[in-house]
Amino acid sequence: MDAKTLEGLVESNKMYQLVTERLDVVDPAAQDIYARFNMESELMELILELYNHDEENFQYQQLHKFSVDQVLAYLQASHKFYLSKKLPEIEQTMSHIFNKYGATHQLLTSLTAFFNEYKNRLVEHIRMEEKTFFPFIKNLISASKGEMNASDIKGMLESDSVDNFNDNHDPIEDDLKTVSSIIHSYSTDDETPLPYRVFLNQVELFEMELRKHAIIEDHVLVPMAKELENKLRAA
Ligand SMILES: [Fe+2]
Ligand SMILES: [Fe+2]
Repeated sequence: MDAKTLEGLVESNKMYQLVTERLDVVDPAAQDIYARFNMESELMELILELYNHDEENFQYQQLHKFSVDQVLAYLQASHKFYLSKKLPEIEQTMSHIFNKYGATHQLLTSLTAFFNEYKNRLVEHIRMEEKTFFPFIKNLISASKGEMNASDIKGMLESDSVDNFNDNHDPIEDDLKTVSSIIHSYSTDDETPLPYRVFLNQVELFEMELRKHAIIEDHVLVPMAKELENKLRAA
């Protein structure tokens, strides 16, 4: 096996882990949902493809053949994964750097302040989706299945809309670029201490992760929910 093939294999395995890792952190209570789309499932394969390729070349429609429940379950597992695994990992690296360089590097004060503030915004972003938007979609699903009475449907459609979410859905991953620019403004690549490079690497991967996550929300979940909503409003 030549070096290039090996490199490709390592790279795709890393991506595979990145996508499937979140299945390890879900609630035992929710396990049955994830059992429905096990790691070999088509949905995971397609999401993996989204991780491996440029966003422009990815055919989002391919994901539309899955049910809204499946897409929702995937997004919720991802939220949990960010909060219980990714953010703590990044914070751990951050405190490691702080212990090592805190006394001597001015940069750390602004980096720590920025990251803490960013973390709060991300948690709030996820909280809003989990507490407001996803429950609204779950109601749309129940209503579409005939599990809700007419006056409850009316009340639900008056209280919120998919457009309302869509208009307020910030690209929260963009702000993570600030971390890279803070670090880069302070040093050139060859003199960046290793712990900073590890931190930077984690943050850049997380930024990509959040970007793909937002793509699934905006280009798969929103159109699906919108379709359910339109049908209910027309009924
Ligand atoms: Fe989200
Ligand atoms: Fe989001």
